[in-house]
Amino acid sequence: MADSTTKYIAIIGCGTIGRQVALFYAQHNRKVALYDTNEDVAQDALHWIESQLDHSKQPNHVKTSRELKDAVENAWMVIECIAEDIDAKKQLLKTLSSLCASNTIITTNSSSIRSSVLVQGIAAASQRRILNAHYFPQGQGPFVELMSCGHTDPGVIEFLAKELREIGRRPVVCQADSTGFIMNRIWAAVKREIMMVLADGAGKPTDIDAMLKQAMHAKYGPCELMDLVGLQTVCDIEEIYLKERTYLPSYALEFFRERYVEAG
Ligand SMILES: NC(=O)c1ccc[n+]([C@@H]2O[C@H](COP(=O)([O-])OP(=O)(O)OC[C@H]3O[C@@H](n4cnc5c(N)ncnc54)[C@H](O)[C@@H]3O)[C@@H](O)[C@H]2O)c1
Repeated sequence: MADSTTKYIAIIGCGTIGRQVALFYAQHNRKVALYDTNEDVAQDALHWIESQLDHSKQPNHVKTSRELKDAVENAWMVIECIAEDIDAKKQLLKTLSSLCASNTIITTNSSSIRSSVLVQGIAAASQRRILNAHYFPQGQGPFVELMSCGHTDPGVIEFLAKELREIGRRPVVCQADSTGFIMNRIWAAVKREIMMVLADGAGKPTDIDAMLKQAMHAKYGPCELMDLVGLQTVCDIEEIYLKERTYLPSYALEFFRERYVEAG
């Protein structure tokens, strides 16, 4: 396995979560290369990360790359953090498989798409270094859920779990191929019921948050958490679940999209 202290971690997609994942690693003196198709987003992420680092203890090893190939050139691991879109992620993983060195680990931070779906059409040898690695956002615990694509080399999962423990994260290995990780599936049940409560006109987000915060001893209410994730990303994830499960009536998702996402 490549040297994780001298080589880079390439973050592809520097929106809400990509920059947070980059920060986790930068705070532990890992080298990070940022790439986003929107160059302004990559620059903004760089400035945000720099503002969060304690410069007396954490030397800044973060850079942006204008081209995808430059970002992954010297990377021991690539973390895909682009929007929750199956076709876009499939295309990106295919490109990464051909651009990256053969020992570069390729992970997807998708919340709901199995890496077993994303590796379809990728050469068998390359599938061995691809897996899901799902990072919890800042303030929501140190967990990172890992899930094989069905062909991932177990040594890769073991290596990554060790790396994560070294930077203070707590890896949890999902034991079966699953649409959505362990925590995401449970969280999905909460989101689904909230969308139905809203669509049925039964409750308001402020009341839901107030009650749930007290009842669950939580810092944030579930509607506040959805805001932190990003409402567009929440809807994209629900669309993926809807294809496999029918628990959420589509009227509730439509209501949520019109009332909350489109209204900003
Ligand atoms: N938001 C969260 O709290 C959270 C938590 C865990 C996992 N995730 C997952 O992480 C992924 C990203 O979510 P997000 O909320 O950060 O989305 P986002 O929309 O905030 O950011 C996505 C970024 O990807 C960039 N992008 C799109 N296509 C690209 C490409 N081909 N190459 C490079 N950059 C590209 C966009 O310009 C954008 O800046 C999703 O799969 C989501 O399910 C999100």
